[in-house]
Amino acid sequence: MNPLPETKPSRTLSVAPMLDWTDKHYRFMARLITHHAWLYTEMIHANAIVYGKTNDLLQFHPQEQPIALQLGGSEPELLAKAAQMAASYGYNEINLNCGCPSPRVQKGAFGACLMQEIQKVTDCLNAMQDSVSIPVTIKHRIGLDKATDYQPLADFVGTLRHNTACRVFIVHARNAWLQGLSPKDNRTIPPLRYDYVYRLKQEFPDLEIIINGGIRTNDDIAQHLQHVDGVMVGREAYHNPMIMQAWDKRFYADHHALMTYPELVTALMDYARHELKQPQVKLQQLTRHYLGLLHGYPGARQWRQLLSDAALLKSNQAELIWTAWQAALSTTTATIS
Ligand SMILES: Cc1cc2nc3c(=O)[nH]c(=O)nc-3n(C[C@H](O)[C@H](O)[C@H](O)COP(=O)(O)O)c2cc1C
Repeated sequence: MNPLPETKPSRTLSVAPMLDWTDKHYRFMARLITHHAWLYTEMIHANAIVYGKTNDLLQFHPQEQPIALQLGGSEPELLAKAAQMAASYGYNEINLNCGCPSPRVQKGAFGACLMQEIQKVTDCLNAMQDSVSIPVTIKHRIGLDKATDYQPLADFVGTLRHNTACRVFIVHARNAWLQGLSPKDNRTIPPLRYDYVYRLKQEFPDLEIIINGGIRTNDDIAQHLQHVDGVMVGREAYHNPMIMQAWDKRFYADHHALMTYPELVTALMDYARHELKQPQVKLQQLTRHYLGLLHGYPGARQWRQLLSDAALLKSNQAELIWTAWQAALSTTTATIS
């Protein structure tokens, strides 16, 4: 439906799938800041797509492309059907989640626990790829629980390389502990092993290996790109979205003029005006994603305060975004451009 431009942007940089965070409103904002980085949806269960509110779940703004849908699930036929439906909406990639350790997800027998079931993952990836012509990719961990060996990771990747058409592996460089840790702790406590991800690239040079986990600065990104094909950034891209402002120039050699803050604020306000025409959309659903935009600048506190003030948000007026911007500016003599 929305074919990519001739020069297909690469996954050199991507924003991670994050449940409840990387919804379409966040992604629209991210796309204003970077033209090139690959954007991922939150994980959506295949069942919800096939039997639920398909259109609400799959619809996206064409400007969000390149965009990948991340699916959760472990039933090949269901995943294949969901992938096919997503492809018809114009997604550029379908990704299978094999990294989520949450108890709810484990109960449903998908996410990280699938790393123990290589045949099932193989069947899922093959069924999905047979149903679509866009790439089907995987996001997984480096291992499970307290295991520390590299070899099971290499076997996992090597087997999938041999038995499926999957050529893009997004590797969260931590184990998933299936017991005893909350999903949040599972993103901080298991140690990061970037060297394992680098080894994968050395061992499987034909695969596109994307590294993820704990990457917070553009200098760190540049460092990782010496070893792997791409870097996926999650929390930092959410809490400090302007980190993405340098990406197009530095990592894609695209020197288009960067959006100034006033231009960005105006674009977000225009977007809000358009979205708020739908009665079910509330301003707070948009502004909650904008709170980190002034991260590190004077005035950030005023910006956040106004954009999360329940009484002000109730009016559902897009102009609150401009008001918050003016309030931030008024706190400082420094220029924010
Ligand atoms: C709020 C939140 C929700 C997340 N939801 C998902 C998800 O839906 N699918 C997924 O594969 N990973 C999910 N993750 C994990 C991230 O994609 C990423 O792997 C992890 O945060 C490590 O990257 P980072 O250190 O750059 O944040 C989530 C992370 C956060 C913070």
